[in-house]
Amino acid sequence: MALVVTDAVVATMQGGTGLIPSGAVVLRDGRILWVGASDRIPDEYQDIERHSCDGRLVTPGLIDCHTHAVWAGSRAAEFEARLNGASYEEIARAGGGILSTVAATRAASESDLIAATLPRLDQMIASGATTIEVKSGYGLTVADELKMLRAARALERLRPIHVVTTHLAAHAVPPDYKGRAADYIAEVAIPSLRAAHAEALVDQVDAFCEGIAFSSQELAPLFSEARGLGLPVKLHAEQLSDRKGAVFAAAEGALSCDHVEYIGPDGVAAMAVAGTVAVLLPGAFYSLHETQLPPVAAFRAAGVAMAVATDLNPGTSPMASLPLAMNMACTLFRLTPAEALLGATVQAARALGLTDRGSIAPGQRADLCLWDATHPAEIAWRIGGPKLHARIFGGRLDA
Ligand code: NIG
Ligand code: FE
Repeated sequence: MALVVTDAVVATMQGGTGLIPSGAVVLRDGRILWVGASDRIPDEYQDIERHSCDGRLVTPGLIDCHTHAVWAGSRAAEFEARLNGASYEEIARAGGGILSTVAATRAASESDLIAATLPRLDQMIASGATTIEVKSGYGLTVADELKMLRAARALERLRPIHVVTTHLAAHAVPPDYKGRAADYIAEVAIPSLRAAHAEALVDQVDAFCEGIAFSSQELAPLFSEARGLGLPVKLHAEQLSDRKGAVFAAAEGALSCDHVEYIGPDGVAAMAVAGTVAVLLPGAFYSLHETQLPPVAAFRAAGVAMAVATDLNPGTSPMASLPLAMNMACTLFRLTPAEALLGATVQAARALGLTDRGSIAPGQRADLCLWDATHPAEIAWRIGGPKLHARIFGGRLDA
């Protein structure tokens, strides 16, 4: 299967947006073979079928590197409670929040979970995602964490999407382990990680380091288990307070630290040394009415790469659109539109440890978005993004 995409404004995302104003991309067997000016397509590709973009913007397929897309139930009542004055932490401490989604997710079967997730997945796809990360973390028993990861794995058999699965059993302490977080890690989180790895259900390991969740000391045995299994780690760090999660995670060689609004200079420095990506999640910041901004200027100064993701979840970020997350990253966090697009492509790939996607270059996967737009800044500029004209997944055009 081969295709040449022509007459496009190509944002290669190499060295910034890497714009080619009248560009072409040659695709074959699911990979990018060549990218350059439309009038310079090498002779050897002249006979391949062509698709004219009529001057439209072409970007790499978007990568949503932080989602909790698989869940059952609703948190609309909690949304109302927060508007009536309750805080996210108060609700969590009273057994609501994440734990209310845990109850609904435990009650759901694997096929119920898949059915509940597909409409959200379709929204992500319609907004330009070609790779998404999906976390467990609403099961909190060995069986229920495995059920979530199986549901996440099933998604790529049902839709044209790549799914990276993340074990997040260390998301909350369930009621039967209240006050015994270390026992929960030893008796549920680690055994569920081993079982998920044995079933090839897990690509990476995440945890929630927070006063309402786990301390870095409690998480250390889980991360060392991950290392033993050869799985990369990442961390929900410094979302609501500075628990020094980023310092801990960076020392463990984490791919990313996510949220990071409350990170201190020590955390930023540790991430810079380790090459850990800062994943910015403006949807959660927006929903929680946060005022503490992530230190974008400090990340830039230290050379810490910034990714942008939806954090799609029922509690803090019921949002499936990466272009909307990019808009929020610009409006709320003052990223430039180019940084936001890099954040949902190149840097998102880095946050997932993937080197075969995120830019338009020879050898990269042939996953592209064709937008009803002519400039890359339009994706973040329009609230909710421009219309996705078509998507190319694995070299195949699905208009
Ligand atoms: O990324 N911070 C922890 N986890 C999610 C929220 C999950 C939930 O509230 O259901 C987050 O914001
Ligand atoms: Fe999250």
